[in-house]
Amino acid sequence: MISAPVVGPVAVEAMGLTKTFGTTVALADVSLVIPRGIVFGLLGPNGAGKSTTVRILATLIRPDEGTARVNGIDVLDDPGGVRQCIGLTGQYAAVDEYLTGRENLIMFGRLAGLRTPAARARADELLELFDLTDAANRISKGYSGGMRRRLDLAASLTARPPVLFLDEPTTGLDPRSRLTMWGVIQDLVSDGTTVLLTTQYLEEADRLAQRIAVIDHGLVIAEGTPAELKARVGGEALEVAVVDPADLARVREIVAAVASEEVFVEAEGRRVRAAAADGARSLAQVAEEIARAGIATEDLGLHRPTLDEVFLALTGHPAESPTGDDEGQAS
Ligand SMILES: Nc1ncnc2c1ncn2[C@@H]1O[C@H](COP(=O)(O)OP(=O)(O)O)[C@@H](O)[C@H]1O
Ligand SMILES: [Mg+2]
Repeated sequence: MISAPVVGPVAVEAMGLTKTFGTTVALADVSLVIPRGIVFGLLGPNGAGKSTTVRILATLIRPDEGTARVNGIDVLDDPGGVRQCIGLTGQYAAVDEYLTGRENLIMFGRLAGLRTPAARARADELLELFDLTDAANRISKGYSGGMRRRLDLAASLTARPPVLFLDEPTTGLDPRSRLTMWGVIQDLVSDGTTVLLTTQYLEEADRLAQRIAVIDHGLVIAEGTPAELKARVGGEALEVAVVDPADLARVREIVAAVASEEVFVEAEGRRVRAAAADGARSLAQVAEEIARAGIATEDLGLHRPTLDEVFLALTGHPAESPTGDDEGQAS
């Protein structure tokens, strides 16, 4: 079986990538350093350049300028070597929908150089890992969107690649399938795989990634840990809506005790809002004080910055029309 050696502390390094399609500048200047063993989130709206970046790193297309190394191997000098150490999922994986889940995985194992018994064993392992054992002998055409994504991901893992590219693995999935997928990705990384995950969802990058690069119009506009990025947007906000406007003043005091910045009171909405540094703990404290004061609330919670707010804060313009589903899959 093919198992590529692991080279160096950096899994992926891209420098000054540019790519133009006709008159469209897909990548203006993308540089990334992805340390080994983490989930690296590439976050941006539709058309930002995420897939183009992944396709260059996966050697499916060549950059106009710039260089990239994956697992220490140059994508231009040795594309075959790069392909041996990566897994790729997204629009390009070739699951055969007239085969069963198990047959597909055995086929991919054979393609990866396994003998049939080893390919069967690996298929069963992957079916189990991806929660597909019950559906293993069904034709994959009938799978739900979530099951197809998991089969697609399983197929990309038959050769145990040290570096995995996941291009919007949860776009268009229902919340439950998304949670399952998140669990699978976390398991992969705890086993030592490096994952480059593209996403339009801040929440997803926040949940899974140890580092995030925000990409917009083919440019990396911010890079850091999720906490660093959210801090630049002002972090989480605590929001309380009261039933009786007479309680606003008291709630304002309670919220002020945990707020990291100015407290806003929206009298018409009977709402108090403030940035909170330690969101969950602040929320717990505010909830307890409000309960103790016997104040009835209509709404009490944390408002996390959305991708739109991140973009607005980082670029000064809103993210353009993310569709949320560009693959028409649902389950
Ligand atoms: N093969 C292509 N031909 C023409 N334009 C393309 C092609 N691939 C991507 N683009 C354009 O490049 C830009 C970046 O696309 P892409 O990397 O797919 O963005 P994302 O994956 O972030 O949605 C978009 O404007 C897209 O329309
Ligand atoms: Mg894309």
